[in-house]
Amino acid sequence: MIELRNPRAFFEPLCVGAPRPAPAVSTEPSRMIHFFDPGNERMRAKLPDLARRADVLLGNLEDAVPTDRKNAARAGLVEACRSGALDGARVWCRINALDSPWVLDDVTTLVSEVGAHLEVLMVPKVEGPRDVHFLDRLLAHLEARAGLTHQIGLHAIVETALGVTNLEAIAASSPRMQGMSFGPADLAASRRMRTLRPGGPHPGYRTMDDRTGDADNDDAAGARVSVVQDLWHASIVRMVDACAAFGLLPFYGPFGDISDPEGCEVQFRAAAVLGCVGAWSLHPGQIDIARRVFTPPADEVAAARRVLDALPDGSGVRMIDGRMTDDASWKQCRAMVDFADRAAERDARIAGDPLAGVAT
Ligand code: GLV
Ligand code: MG
Repeated sequence: MIELRNPRAFFEPLCVGAPRPAPAVSTEPSRMIHFFDPGNERMRAKLPDLARRADVLLGNLEDAVPTDRKNAARAGLVEACRSGALDGARVWCRINALDSPWVLDDVTTLVSEVGAHLEVLMVPKVEGPRDVHFLDRLLAHLEARAGLTHQIGLHAIVETALGVTNLEAIAASSPRMQGMSFGPADLAASRRMRTLRPGGPHPGYRTMDDRTGDADNDDAAGARVSVVQDLWHASIVRMVDACAAFGLLPFYGPFGDISDPEGCEVQFRAAAVLGCVGAWSLHPGQIDIARRVFTPPADEVAAARRVLDALPDGSGVRMIDGRMTDDASWKQCRAMVDFADRAAERDARIAGDPLAGVAT
């Protein structure tokens, strides 16, 4: 028999004195999760400015931090939290992988010393519910000992073939789960994909018109149209479904080529259209791309407001702006307008507007 938790106990803390899980995942804007290396002093000096621009600042302790700087990075994150350098943004941390020699110190140090600042721990290479359960109980003990009043969320990075295979089980594994991101570099390695372009397109992954030709597409020379396809699409769609099914938030991961803002914007936009609520930002230049892409466009928000005005309680069917509008479109519009209002408040706060208002 599959081991199940009593549904009535699902929201009970896993340790006496630990905080309860929140009934729903926070939908505060998390349009960009900006990664920084907390062990890098030059980088730490820039944090107050970044905290005014990014919705989420994430201290990265895992890959990209050399093994001889793991302790310095952890200590740097503690120092950054304590100094107030991160104030204004929400604070997340990517801990080291669960089979690494650093992860135990990552979790114990951070929760004990700066747990009150931490909203979410991002966990690399999650492969199944047992990875989540290990952290779930450990965190409950540490939270109780630290006297925390909020539960720290868990965010799984899906970046191995086994993790993708177990997406739904991971999403359902605990009320502590906050969301998921896609880790294309590790996933490519796990699958032996022939690409070194994490999160971006590959010129070899394409499709082509049928050989017999298509009257609409064949030009005079008979050239066949061939277009590059998105090689991450299939897994992202599964992740979005797994998250939506269990009340989590899905995120696009990194777009590795920071010298290609145009490509980054196209890739982020496709993810936003599919339902992702944000993406990783690996360079300050990607912060504004993510803000542009993951904030609903003003014209779409205005159209959604017209639907809410015309169908205040969502019942009935009306033609609005030439489209049939019913209960389903009302729900989409409600979610978009609510999110746009929160994003507008956040952006007005960032801009220092004391009359932080709502989106137009
Ligand atoms: C991120 O961690 C990745 O592997 O792409
Ligand atoms: Mg990775």
